[in-house]
Amino acid sequence: MGHTEGKPRNQELDVARYEDAHRSSLSDPDGFWLRAAEAIDWERAPTRALDATRPPFYRWFSDGRLNTCHNALDRHIDAGHGDRTALIHDSAYTGERCSFTYAELRDEAARFAGALRGLGVGAGDRVVIYMPMVPQAVVAMLACARLGAIHSVVFGGFAPKELAARIDDAGPKVVLSASCGIEPGRIIEYKPIVDEALALAAHRPDAVVVLQREQSRADLRKDHVPWVELDWDELTAGAEPADCVPVAATDPLYVLYTSGTTGRPKGVVRDNGGHAVALAWSMSAIYDIGPGDVWWTASDVGWVVGHSYIVYAPLLIGATTVLYEGKPVGTPDAGAFWRVIAEHGVKALFTAPTALRAVKKVDPGAGLLAGHDLSGFRTLFLAGERLDPETYQWATDTLGVPVVDHWWQTETGWPVAANLRGLEPMPIKPGSPTVPVPGYDVRILDETGKETERGGEGAICIKLPLPPGTLPTLWGDDQRFVDSYLSRFEGYYLSGDGGYLDEDGYLFVMGRMDDVINVAGHRLSTGSMEAVLAAHPAVAECAVIGVKDRLKGQVPRGLVVLKAGADIGPEQLRDELVAAVRSEIGPVAAFKDVDIVAGLPKTRSGKILRKSMRSIAEGREEPVPSTIEDASVLDALRPVLRPGTD
Ligand code: COA
Ligand code: AMP
Repeated sequence: MGHTEGKPRNQELDVARYEDAHRSSLSDPDGFWLRAAEAIDWERAPTRALDATRPPFYRWFSDGRLNTCHNALDRHIDAGHGDRTALIHDSAYTGERCSFTYAELRDEAARFAGALRGLGVGAGDRVVIYMPMVPQAVVAMLACARLGAIHSVVFGGFAPKELAARIDDAGPKVVLSASCGIEPGRIIEYKPIVDEALALAAHRPDAVVVLQREQSRADLRKDHVPWVELDWDELTAGAEPADCVPVAATDPLYVLYTSGTTGRPKGVVRDNGGHAVALAWSMSAIYDIGPGDVWWTASDVGWVVGHSYIVYAPLLIGATTVLYEGKPVGTPDAGAFWRVIAEHGVKALFTAPTALRAVKKVDPGAGLLAGHDLSGFRTLFLAGERLDPETYQWATDTLGVPVVDHWWQTETGWPVAANLRGLEPMPIKPGSPTVPVPGYDVRILDETGKETERGGEGAICIKLPLPPGTLPTLWGDDQRFVDSYLSRFEGYYLSGDGGYLDEDGYLFVMGRMDDVINVAGHRLSTGSMEAVLAAHPAVAECAVIGVKDRLKGQVPRGLVVLKAGADIGPEQLRDELVAAVRSEIGPVAAFKDVDIVAGLPKTRSGKILRKSMRSIAEGREEPVPSTIEDASVLDALRPVLRPGTD
């Protein structure tokens, strides 16, 4: 394709320091982001960055055209780097390691794109990907990008009903899966999950393509279903490689579903142009990673962290990315992360604090570090949940490298607050992800929408427009986008987190202000768990709250009130409710704790006081809202919420 030539590949940060960069990104967004856009190959270069013609729907690079797969693969090959390693796959379960050069990964993606095209997939069509951490998952994402098709990856720990909800919302032409995933001590057969999801879904794809893994092969049905079931390798073997299809910068690259406050997941849309520009910029400015560096994000391709920092960002800048199938502990031991870093020469690791807490719990003295050469390891990046000071200190002492917290969300796609290690490393304050990243105008608003004084806590908001790479809308639902994020405070994006900015401009994130919880770095909705509990015939009403957990950060806790005359033993009810959440949402919900109570505290207008229950469960005595209908209900709950108190 006819991409523009002769631009610097490695964007030069012509604003040397953080403050200049942040200021100019807000005062001159066009200049700032058009300069950053020079690091990307365009089929038609954009003439302007910000398109503010239809607020609050801001768009970026709207007259540009590009292909994200070309930028992630082909252009590095065109520049003579085809032999550089693009992807290293390391499975702690199977012991397999393999790697792909940029040329090899391009060939795989082109062939698989050809296979998808043969199934009728073209620009704008959706493809749902429900796969474990195998290289083919990355190939599939890149193949979709190559065709201008829109992928929607669903995390493997979600149950059929959740998969079905995403299939119905995205309306995919093709569903891609594998015969199985692997979890410690057990093989998880994916094909029956896909079958069940498709039986539940109203939408019918044209085809289901299954990668057969030798740990457990799936039966592919030749008839009796309205779609064809195909073997991945057979389909790909006969496929003609497909070229990159240029798309508008504003066309969607993917839809990724995330938990909102209700049970219905939100389809976060990511565009092609803003995403490529922002992610490439972030790799050098935030993570200090350049072409050829080995970079490892220990997450899953089913989460935004995996989309941005396992797949797209490292490939967009020509780095080497590690795809790790395994856990931090138990596969086989708590030295797994150190082994991977040493074996593959990892320069920086990005993971969630919970992974380190898991390692620390098993190997507090980090004895398993011995024998692993970490001399090339420079930085540990953590995000996805609050980084508690104890874990921060342990990691700093153990690894002897900067431990860098940063804060962002599925919606933003890349960091909102960070310590910009490439642009200008700053002193670390434990408990803070440091400062707002260039492009983000972070403000703390009180309940009335006024900015708080420095140090004053409130809702963390971002003044519009959001920078490139952030969500332009929710899939097929502009109104829900506005209602969920933009309507609380006009002119601002509501992050859902609370916090404050200190006198040095450092951001402190105190946690969600809504009913979203964060379990082992996984974002979940208490509302969707409540919907499962409420559906049980013995349950009159219920609440699910997130309570602090030493390992997972938070875990869900259910409280149910029985219907009058319900005839079921407490043990049986508990087992049934736990099993129901596991089968309807998935094991990832980690829902194991439920109590039967006499009543739930409510306001006079009938709103359940989840926050008050949570503060009691966590041992914080906060004032009870004056709107409470009957304070004695809350008092009666104290011994249940926090045994040993009353
Ligand atoms: N497919 C199927 N099941 C899965 C799964 C997948 N892809 N991922 C997790 N599960 C299952 C687990 O087997 C577990 O099942 P169990 O209840 O039968 O034990 C359940 O879902 C909960 O998983 P998880 O929350 O991951 O807990 P864990 O005890 O297996 O592991 C940690 C705990 C801390 C080791 C693990 O959560 C971890 O490594 N977290 C890293 C954080 C991370 O990747 N965050 C993503 C955003 S950065
Ligand atoms: P997700 O969309 O799954 O990435 O989850 C985003 C949410 O995780 C945020 O809204 C926060 O509540 C939480 N989160 C992510 N990173 C951090 C962090 N560094 N500190 C505190 N909370 C975080």
